[in-house]
Amino acid sequence: MKHAVQTFVEGVVQMYALKAPNGQVPGAELGEFIDLLHAMDWSAEERPIPSPATITGLRHMQNALAAAYAEGPCPIVDALRLCIGVTPWETYYADSVWSQPFLHEFASGELIGPNGFFPSSDVSLGLFLLGPNTTYTEHAHTSSEVYYILCGTVTYRIGDPQSPRTAKPGDLIYTAPNERHDIQTGDTPMLAVYTWKGDPSATSYHYDEGPWLGGILVHPPLVNRG
Ligand SMILES: [Fe+2]
Repeated sequence: MKHAVQTFVEGVVQMYALKAPNGQVPGAELGEFIDLLHAMDWSAEERPIPSPATITGLRHMQNALAAAYAEGPCPIVDALRLCIGVTPWETYYADSVWSQPFLHEFASGELIGPNGFFPSSDVSLGLFLLGPNTTYTEHAHTSSEVYYILCGTVTYRIGDPQSPRTAKPGDLIYTAPNERHDIQTGDTPMLAVYTWKGDPSATSYHYDEGPWLGGILVHPPLVNRG
């Protein structure tokens, strides 16, 4: 029987293909994401179901799911509910000036990837939950990234701090490798599917002189991840 994670990821791939013509992600890039996810080896043994996570940001999940359902019928959302319990939820950033704005308001979990429920070293895909009225501070990473917004209307900036944009449920947000970006929620939490390719085991970094300035590259200290 097909695993719920496979059903969910196949649904995401279908949505990516449907949304390709809207141009929110460069066509060749989106094609690579789709190819990588198509090539997933679902026969690889999944990791054990993690013990229930005690991550404070998960308190926003109930409202996020309600908002996702309110968007209307979506096969992905049905499969999503089954995935939440097998997601290895993490917060992975240590407490710092950089992480304070969102550290207790988010939860992230990799369904496929180097640390995922289904292992992969080529691509990672997971869930990212960000509570209401919260900013995931400016950061960058060597992997390219696609967010698929399931609920919550967000304001985000990529590359240029003077050019905020908005995204709504159903939209894709694309970030190229090493582009600096942040994302801010409104009154509704954001639940998004993230996909990384390039080096899915890479960690995010930011600059030590504050958002959007120059400065020295630093990796935020991590916790509970090797
Ligand atoms: Fe990112």
